[in-house]
Amino acid sequence: MNYSLKVIDKRQETNDTVTLCFKQPGLKKIKYLAGQYLTLIFRINGRRYIRPYSFSSCPIVDEYLEVTVKRVLNGIVSNHINDEVKVGDTIEVMSPMGDFIFEEDVTYRDVYFWGVGSGITPLISIIKYILSSIENVKVHLNYGNRNHDTTIFRNQIEELKSKYPDRLIVRHFHTKFIIEENNPHIIQGRIDFERAIQILEENESLSLSAHYICGPPGLKESVKDALASKGVDIENIYTEDFELVKNPEDFKDIKTQNVVVDFNGTHFGLEVVKGKSILEAALDSDIELPYSCQTGNCSTCKARVLTGEVKMIGLSKERSDLSDGEFLLCCSHPLTENVYIEL
Ligand SMILES: Cc1cc2nc3c(=O)[nH]c(=O)nc-3n(C[C@H](O)[C@H](O)[C@H](O)COP(=O)(O)OP(=O)(O)OC[C@H]3O[C@@H](n4cnc5c(N)ncnc54)[C@H](O)[C@@H]3O)c2cc1C
Ligand code: FES
Repeated sequence: MNYSLKVIDKRQETNDTVTLCFKQPGLKKIKYLAGQYLTLIFRINGRRYIRPYSFSSCPIVDEYLEVTVKRVLNGIVSNHINDEVKVGDTIEVMSPMGDFIFEEDVTYRDVYFWGVGSGITPLISIIKYILSSIENVKVHLNYGNRNHDTTIFRNQIEELKSKYPDRLIVRHFHTKFIIEENNPHIIQGRIDFERAIQILEENESLSLSAHYICGPPGLKESVKDALASKGVDIENIYTEDFELVKNPEDFKDIKTQNVVVDFNGTHFGLEVVKGKSILEAALDSDIELPYSCQTGNCSTCKARVLTGEVKMIGLSKERSDLSDGEFLLCCSHPLTENVYIEL
């Protein structure tokens, strides 16, 4: 289901990041869980663009629905939001989605958050949720940025530290380090394997810990490796990806191919250039297929392959829920020349 939301505030977080605050719809309130995302739909220069943004607000703490958007170099929607969207605008959104949420049924003593840059958005939402609603859980935020000025939610994090001095431990990692006497908690450099190990070694009961990771692939790999080497159960590790990571090796058997897409009973012939997903090729041809995350997570782009073979590339999580012949077009590439897809 889609909603129209009114922007009632726009906050500048850093030079290249803004938060949009939306008023809940009058009749049917949007329900969401901390860590989920909202999908925004725009029409820019006649073309439809759909992008997911994690809630930076927390349902039980914040009155408004908030998303926080960092500019991406040459990015269509992130720059449109930073430059063009104004208070009073109405934006179409989809129902909240996402499984990067806090598992309440497991008893954790410590919850660690590992984030870089805009990866903080779902983390701050879950952090606010835990601090305000679950007692006796210690929260550890390990947050990497270039420096103080590029740190999104710097003030909000300081306020949370003052409100929960015994339960929130924050380590800021700055790659562009300027020594400041009043900032003794800043660590120079990136969150890498060795630093993650050092942090984990301070905890003697890691079996009672959960870990939420959101940031670039380098962060995810080094933290996951450190957690594995400390014996942390994979079940207690949660990750969110903002981008699909494609390994060039996986494209060895892919060639540019023509495919046919049957969308709502209309047939479209499509050239899928090697490297592009079937969804990207369709969108480039102005075929408005449904989608949201473009990372193989939400299933909005699910379709059935009736003939030929396709290969999914870049999926970061197993998708055992897909039945035979079902594929996610955002990460699907044709392997043969007779691919016929229906959705
Ligand atoms: C589940 C989920 C939650 C997300 N939450 C947030 C959020 O809270 N805040 C936020 O700012 N973004 C978030 N994103 C990313 C967001 O959806 C867009 O991908 C991002 O804003 C870029 O869109 P664009 O239209 O500006 O760039 P596009 O025009 O789509 O892309 C331009 C170029 O930038 C590259 N690119 C795309 N995304 C990124 C990225 N994240 N980092 C670096 N390069 C990129 C592309 O490969 C492309 O080459 C999230 C993504 C997902 C899947
Ligand atoms: S768009 Fe989300 S799985 Fe493809």
